[in-house]
Amino acid sequence: MSSLLKISDLHVSVGETPILRGVSLEIRQGEIHALMGPNGSGKSTLAYALVGHPKYEITGGSIEIDGSPLNELDPCERARLGLFLAFQYPVTIPGVKVSDFLRHAVSNIRNPNRKEGEGLIPMREFRKELKSLMEELGMDTDFARRYLNEGFSGGEKKRMEILQLAMLKPKFAILDETDSGLDSDAVRVVSEGLRKLSGPQMGVLIITHHERLLEYNVPQFTHVMLAGRIVETGDAALAHELHNHGYATVRERHPQEAAEEQSRHEAAVTAG
Ligand SMILES: Nc1ncnc2c1ncn2[C@@H]1O[C@H](COP(=O)(O)OP(=O)(O)O)[C@@H](O)[C@H]1O
Ligand SMILES: [Mg+2]
Repeated sequence: MSSLLKISDLHVSVGETPILRGVSLEIRQGEIHALMGPNGSGKSTLAYALVGHPKYEITGGSIEIDGSPLNELDPCERARLGLFLAFQYPVTIPGVKVSDFLRHAVSNIRNPNRKEGEGLIPMREFRKELKSLMEELGMDTDFARRYLNEGFSGGEKKRMEILQLAMLKPKFAILDETDSGLDSDAVRVVSEGLRKLSGPQMGVLIITHHERLLEYNVPQFTHVMLAGRIVETGDAALAHELHNHGYATVRERHPQEAAEEQSRHEAAVTAG
């Protein structure tokens, strides 16, 4: 049976400021969802709240996988239940190679009770799996010997993201892709990589405006966020329309949220 990620009436605050105000969304394994919305509407906040970033406090509502609540779980426990967030700004860890990082990450997920220094998946088994996945993805195996994020180009950071996705095989992957600063190589890596990896075993939430990413990975559902709420849900045609015409018509259709967006914006300017 396919798994269900169910978000119900989710309210999230950062500090004292309410950001999400009643987000409901259901993603089944095997489905591709696109989440769009103007800057500051709360898309990244939703991604961080889902994976359990400590700065994003859930003040109401629930997140469940197959009926088990996630609200109180730490990010590691959520990852073991099959949630994955591709980080926009992964850290550089001096002296740690891509392959070491992946071996630890995969071991943490597959052996939940392992202690530091124990319970790593055997090197031979790991190498074999990594090599075959890299070949499948058309990646140069030398990449695994590079130091994590040290001097990585945009495209290489995305290769790392896709490789993590391939190794961890999450039930639900959340990709928060900045729409600025991704060069064409990076967009190609994510678009093609995600297309190869997604399938009936993976539910995907893509946060992006990138045409190419959504052309390669056609969403069955497109959601539009405005001032911390999902105001519309449609299919791939809605993503296409928003890409071509922007959010003016969405704001016209949802004057209350548009006014709230405006007053948040003014509050942010006043706050400095
Ligand atoms: N860590 C944070 N600290 C302070 N404010 C934040 C933080 N994260 C998000 N916000 C605020 O929440 C709102 C939504 O931000 P975000 O979720 O990043 O929007 P989006 O990803 O749609 O552009 C913005 O007004 C932003 O300033
Ligand atoms: Mg964002």
